[in-house]
Amino acid sequence: MLFSGLSEVGDDPILRVSKMYRACTDPNKVDLGVGVYKDAKGNTAILNSVKKAEQHLVDNQETKTYLSPAGNAVFNRLVQEMMIGADHPAVGEGRVSTYQTPGGTGGVRIGLEFVKKCNPNTNVWISDPTWPNHTAITKSLGLTPKQYRYYNSKRGEFLYKEMLEDLSGASAGDVVILHGCCHNASGADLSHDQWNELADLMLEKGLVPFIDFAYQGFADGIEEDAYAARVMSSRLPEALIASSCSKNFAMYRDRAGAITLVSPNADEHVKNTSHMLSAVRANYSMPPDHGAAVVAHILGDANLRREWEDEVDAMRSRVKKMRHLFVEQMNEKAPNSGFGYIADQKGMFSYLTLTADQIQTLINDHHIFFMANGRVNMAGLTEANMDYVTDAIASLFKA
Ligand code: LMR
Repeated sequence: MLFSGLSEVGDDPILRVSKMYRACTDPNKVDLGVGVYKDAKGNTAILNSVKKAEQHLVDNQETKTYLSPAGNAVFNRLVQEMMIGADHPAVGEGRVSTYQTPGGTGGVRIGLEFVKKCNPNTNVWISDPTWPNHTAITKSLGLTPKQYRYYNSKRGEFLYKEMLEDLSGASAGDVVILHGCCHNASGADLSHDQWNELADLMLEKGLVPFIDFAYQGFADGIEEDAYAARVMSSRLPEALIASSCSKNFAMYRDRAGAITLVSPNADEHVKNTSHMLSAVRANYSMPPDHGAAVVAHILGDANLRREWEDEVDAMRSRVKKMRHLFVEQMNEKAPNSGFGYIADQKGMFSYLTLTADQIQTLINDHHIFFMANGRVNMAGLTEANMDYVTDAIASLFKA
């Protein structure tokens, strides 16, 4: 029989946490697992700007005929401008395009398929640690994943020097997956100077940046967070950027994302585009419309855009506030617990520097759900659950 003889694969480690959380019946349970923003009441609400744009679509959309494999052209232009700026040199030179994809994950998938088309022997350098799907997608395409050191999660230490050391050993044409901002899973980002230095190294070694840009707006601001995407895509002759509207538009299930391709010149770009779009056609034919149509409407309407930017600012500020409150309470309740580094990390994620046993105690005895490697979603903390969480963690430090 064809459909027999497979051994079962385990759940993705992030989705496993969501499953455990859903199955738990404790009324005090806390979900610090999957990277989803929660407001002060612990809800993942639909943004007002999104609701308004959806109503606009209900009232005005005239057809649901097919899009093209490239997706919504207005969405593509507006998200590209938001990421790399309308005045990016590659735009005028006709060597950059953005294509709508089903979420940022769809962008990573199509981007890596394109890499494989260019050279099936390309190494794909992935930060250690990273979002587990980077490795899964790379492997599922038969590309070779390589790791570069990035962060020591047991010591709460960013390993910038080690990252450069490891990437110095990469070969010309290797692809390097970089987190555009809000590194998932560590919350440790490069400074502007470090991005510049990394761009120099990659240029010298002929490495190709593949920026995973899923959290624009969650570190320092929509414009500020674009620094890495802009530096990498303008300093280096070729680049890929997978971007997502899941988090900054809170449209997780609508799967709005994009892949942006920068080619070395306009002639190559025409050929590259044909391969990118044929990969789309052979995968899912074309992306789903709704989420991208909503985003296109918001970004193209000055009032709605302002409202959306305020909503992004509010989400970012709330997560920052939770980071500070967490550190403050931990300093009070367990002065030697050493979580100070969490206050200034960026975006949703940080690691708790705890042992495997301590992590299991929090999950099993206190029903605080987060990844077994210690990654917590700080956006799942609220003023209402903070005491419960910090008390539980502090109890681990009492002899
Ligand atoms: C996460 O890292 O938790 C998010 O990016 C959600 C996902 O798809 O894994």
